[in-house]
Amino acid sequence: MSLLKRAEEALSSHFAAAAGFGAPPLLQSSMRHAVFSGGARIRPQLCLAVAVACGDDAPELTNAAAVALELMHCASLVHDDMPAFDNADFRRGLPTVHKAFSEPLALLAGDGLIVMAYQVLLNAGRHYPDRLIALMDNLSQGVGLPHGIVAGQAWECETSADLAQYQRSKTGALFVSATSAGAIASGQSPQPWVSLGAFLGEAYQVADDIRDVLGDIAMLGKPVGQDKLNERPSSAQALGLEGAIQHFDSLIAQAGSSIPDCACKDMLKHLVLLESQRLVPKSMCEDYRKRAAFTKPVKTRATRSQATQQQQSVQ
Ligand code: IPE
Ligand code: IPE
Ligand code: MG
Ligand code: MG
Repeated sequence: MSLLKRAEEALSSHFAAAAGFGAPPLLQSSMRHAVFSGGARIRPQLCLAVAVACGDDAPELTNAAAVALELMHCASLVHDDMPAFDNADFRRGLPTVHKAFSEPLALLAGDGLIVMAYQVLLNAGRHYPDRLIALMDNLSQGVGLPHGIVAGQAWECETSADLAQYQRSKTGALFVSATSAGAIASGQSPQPWVSLGAFLGEAYQVADDIRDVLGDIAMLGKPVGQDKLNERPSSAQALGLEGAIQHFDSLIAQAGSSIPDCACKDMLKHLVLLESQRLVPKSMCEDYRKRAAFTKPVKTRATRSQATQQQQSVQ
């Protein structure tokens, strides 16, 4: 079974079990809308891949850990899209939760998903108390303070923020939790897997910043040009597009080299490579470079002719 299929099946069954019966129907529907709307599921796949590399001796616990990561991620997207944050109307090609339902329901759906993530872990971890405690701690670090998603989003409320710290917290931390969770669920040390999550997570946010400029709503299923509109710190703005693409390539190369020696090294390298190509397709970069090369001489000529005019006016 592919990692994606395993992640999807685990999400469906754990969501249904944790939601139970009798909850307010609109809350359930809004939570379903947030989760089952076609996400790439990269975080749970990463968790599953590392677990397989570590022996995956408790597959039900691994599945629950993967599901908890995706539920947290979906909750963060619901809140991120709300008017108080990025005020986005579309996500994954569909209206965002507050648009499809309402702001109160979006707020509650996000809250419900965060609690559900812990509930899923608790339900699956009873037979592995040590691993359960480590998984809860690991997830909390990816989401909470001082360097998880909540902290990352909160940097947007400060008057200044360090770009790398902002990106590592709002996106990178949950990737570190994802690789670490795969090892912890299999009874192994997470330490050898931290760098892979950190490099890939940072690359992911750099890619998101590039796509916010070079992508379109049809490609991404969400509005573009948001970083400029909302005045968010962004790699594209800080490094320029060419600089951001080079930074992305370097982070992906470092992610590939950080994979520890294991039986699944090739599979993991392949996963990183496929993701990098999906995130920032070579064709997108080539199109951008062609356009940049085309506009450069025109700009130079204009500058030269302006300079000549200026010289003439001085003479
Ligand atoms: C989007 O994450 C938000 C970021 C942290 C960049 P994804 O690109 O993984 O979104 P989905 O889950 O596939 O929709
Ligand atoms: C989102 O970052 C990171 C989260 C923690 C939700 P962005 O605001 O850049 O992500 P998109 O572009 O809305 O997916
Ligand atoms: Mg945001
Ligand atoms: Mg956003």
